[in-house]
Amino acid sequence: PRSIFMSRHGESMYNVEGKIGGDAPLSPRGMLYANALPGLIKDNLGDANLTVWTSTLQRTIQTAQFLPFTKLTWKSLDELDAGVCDGMTYEEIEEAYPEDFANRDDDKFNYRYRGGESYRDVVLRLEPVIMELERQENILIVGHQAILRCLYAYFHNLPQDDLPYIKIPLHTVIKLTPKAYGCDEERYKVGI
Ligand code: F6P
Repeated sequence: PRSIFMSRHGESMYNVEGKIGGDAPLSPRGMLYANALPGLIKDNLGDANLTVWTSTLQRTIQTAQFLPFTKLTWKSLDELDAGVCDGMTYEEIEEAYPEDFANRDDDKFNYRYRGGESYRDVVLRLEPVIMELERQENILIVGHQAILRCLYAYFHNLPQDDLPYIKIPLHTVIKLTPKAYGCDEERYKVGI
């Protein structure tokens, strides 16, 4: 059976600083994850083939750089666009845009950042990615937190209200194997 592997990029410098969005490079820990990823995939996949999908942001490309497979970059896999809040910490956002911060808390799925996107927007933009995923064999998506929440919710058929709160930890590969109904799931955590 074919599987869909998904992983967030390794820890980025923005993750370390608590900032959202941006296009920061990996941190030293994030680089350790990038180095560990080929071995983890090999142990799981054996000689089977795989295609790796990344976003256009350097933290996903750096995370995938040592994987010996064909790679494809998708603009549609870029992280949720936080608009005017891009590059800020949650504390800075709460301070600068208190109403927005509260509105997001009230309805996280529909809240759209000023000049940016909502989770609902991201679900729409991922439609072509999902169509292609359905036609493909083994794929590893090296992506971003909000993006992987949307894809994960699609494959597990989770409700919209829960989607923005799904836990997609760093340095963990999630393996989904579609069955007649639903998906089997396994997780592999890299301790670094
Ligand atoms: O902090 C990492 C990050 O990927 C941000 O770039 C993004 O805005 C955020 O997570 C999405 O998570 P949440 O919707 O919970 O703020």
